[in-house]
Amino acid sequence: MDASLKPQERLAQALAEPLAEVDALIRERMASEHAPRIPAVTDHLIGAGGKRIRPMLTLAAARMNGYPGPYDVHLAATVEFIHTATLLHDDVVDGSGQRRGRPTANILWDNKSSVLVGDYLFARSFQLMVETGSLRVLDILASAAATIAEGEVLQLTAMSDLATSEDVYLKIVRGKTAALFSAATEVGGVIAGIPDDLVGALHRYGDALGIAFQMVDDLLDWQTGEAAGKNFGDDFRERKMTLPIIRAVAGAEGEEWAFWVRTIGRGAQEEGDLEAAFDLLKRRGAIESTRQTALAWAETAKRALDPLPDTELRDLLRNLADYVVVRIQ
Ligand code: IPE
Ligand code: IPE
Ligand code: MG
Ligand code: MG
Repeated sequence: MDASLKPQERLAQALAEPLAEVDALIRERMASEHAPRIPAVTDHLIGAGGKRIRPMLTLAAARMNGYPGPYDVHLAATVEFIHTATLLHDDVVDGSGQRRGRPTANILWDNKSSVLVGDYLFARSFQLMVETGSLRVLDILASAAATIAEGEVLQLTAMSDLATSEDVYLKIVRGKTAALFSAATEVGGVIAGIPDDLVGALHRYGDALGIAFQMVDDLLDWQTGEAAGKNFGDDFRERKMTLPIIRAVAGAEGEEWAFWVRTIGRGAQEEGDLEAAFDLLKRRGAIESTRQTALAWAETAKRALDPLPDTELRDLLRNLADYVVVRIQ
């Protein structure tokens, strides 16, 4: 195996065959006979790629436990459909203009198309998971879909609230991001028929990985340039209480406090505020401390895999946890 590849690329290589089946299934199921707007929008987003981390988690969780297929492929496609649906909705809610290096669907078409096509993909994801015939899997994924929505709504109500605590932040992140990561790994184990304690270990891995992943996503929002494929500073403009902001605000007094009250609390942002905010985050050590917290969650994720079979896929999942913290997109 090529050591110069990134962990997610090595994982993609190790899972090349089932991953190709996942992509074929996604292509087949995103089609719509009656509404051409649906494949147009999904093609735009799915065709732009995406890292496919969640479907790889499902496939890896199933195959490292000896599952030969085929239903992990359905589940992996289900998980990517749910992810894609939430991205369409999320970009409307966040008013985002760029995703995967392309203009968002809400810009190219409109909010209505994004919301409705997102609904369609959600419904398609449920059809796919029913095909596995496992009620347990249905329970896990349906619960995850509800938890994601809860996380997004909790974030909405915490928006611009300078008193948002790290506990609330963790609830938001566990909901909007980690719930799908943990469901993705869990269903892989369930379909492979492994004992409950091992399913629990897979859940803990996905949960911790998802938390680390979102913390790093919050850091990437402060990264200039094209690397992230998303616009720089969206979270600040949206007045989102991400972990770096929560930590910078916690130590702020006087003028610094007034700055946060004006820009995040009241939303009266002016030219140059984004750069000033970034300077404050660095000065308060909030960027570095968020990175350290993400690293600690990545370590938790790696340790969670201890009871699982000692396989190449387990090593790759561990490497992925390390990589999530140093990634640039
Ligand atoms: C984006 O997820 C949404 C977050 C949870 C931050 P990804 O970064 O996995 O998105 P793609 O699928 O690779 O574009
Ligand atoms: C990620 O939310 C979680 C979901 C899409 C549900 P964000 O709003 O933080 O993710 P990006 O930055 O738009 O990808
Ligand atoms: Mg967003
Ligand atoms: Mg969002």
